Amino acid sequence: MNRNEKSKLKSDLAAALLHWFAANARDLPWRRTSDPYAIWVSEIMLQQTQVKTVIPYWERWLHELPTVQSLAAASPDKIHKLWEGLGYYTRVRNMHKAAQKIVAGHQGTFPCRFENILELPGIGRYTAGAISSIAFNEPRPILDGNVIRVLTRLFGIEANPREKVTNGQLWCLAAELVTAAAKMESNGKARNACSHLNQSLMELGALICIPRQPKCAACPMRKHCTAFRTGRVEHLPNLGPRVIATARHFTAFVIEHRGRVLVRQRPAGVVNAHLWEFPNIEMPDGLKPALAAKTPFGFPLTGLEELYTIKHSITRYRITLKAFRAAIKPGQARKAARQGSWLSLAELHSLAFTSAHRRILQRLTNQPNA
Ligand code: ADE
Repeated sequence: MNRNEKSKLKSDLAAALLHWFAANARDLPWRRTSDPYAIWVSEIMLQQTQVKTVIPYWERWLHELPTVQSLAAASPDKIHKLWEGLGYYTRVRNMHKAAQKIVAGHQGTFPCRFENILELPGIGRYTAGAISSIAFNEPRPILDGNVIRVLTRLFGIEANPREKVTNGQLWCLAAELVTAAAKMESNGKARNACSHLNQSLMELGALICIPRQPKCAACPMRKHCTAFRTGRVEHLPNLGPRVIATARHFTAFVIEHRGRVLVRQRPAGVVNAHLWEFPNIEMPDGLKPALAAKTPFGFPLTGLEELYTIKHSITRYRITLKAFRAAIKPGQARKAARQGSWLSLAELHSLAFTSAHRRILQRLTNQPNA
């Protein structure tokens, strides 16, 4: 294919994507705004998280923290509580830092230049591209898992898209498509073309070009798609071998004393930092809970009663968390308080818990679906 043919192909693809998006885009709440702050919040929430999960979180967040200033001034407790259940909490801590940086360095106005967006904590090339294109209609490319799937299939790319050269090639293709859309706009053939082009790639990956059993019959790109033509759709993208999850076992103790429960806050610098949990220990193979309960936290536990088993998967781990009810021996309450805080159930509900421990709390208070 010569240069002209390649450029014509990109224009045809951009036109087909924009046409399809105009008729098929979901009506998502963040698509009704051009506020870069609101779009930024949606993009960060949508990393690793499905649209239907994000919608109520995004709405609550915008209601509670409608501006960069309100986020910058919010307490860590507040932002963690608003994020509770979304996981990957570094995201929310980075947003907090970024908001404070915008207030300090940009008079509280979300920056419009790509380079300034990219300087903010927690914002990489994908997110900066998404905000620049969606909120400011700039011709900046995006490449995430969905877009990688669409482009590797469309162009029949057999190499692993995580490899540097291939990844660079995919960024170039994404850039050519969004540039083709910008040209259509400058010729008066489209409006908001960069924003819509990038969102059309995300949308196609979410609705049609899905990982298994993609809906090729409904795909606007079918006649251009190399993987469809060569029967390779289910084989692409070639992501290499899957990482095998490691099993880990934990025992948590719901330690009760005078109507209060002992809970602790995870320290800075560890996974799920700042979130609350019931005192717990990782169980080396074969260790019995009764033995583990002897003095796991510097004071003995008694009256062990098995409550629930919670199964929880996060990226690399399959976690089994067994919860036991326990009591302390007389005179140990103060010593125990060095390990955390004695709080009522009502107080616990106002704190941000890690996902697995929130499920223990929900079961304790008779929410059986947890
Ligand atoms: N995934 C990432 N960004 C998205 C967006 N803006 N809309 C829908 N899904 C997305």
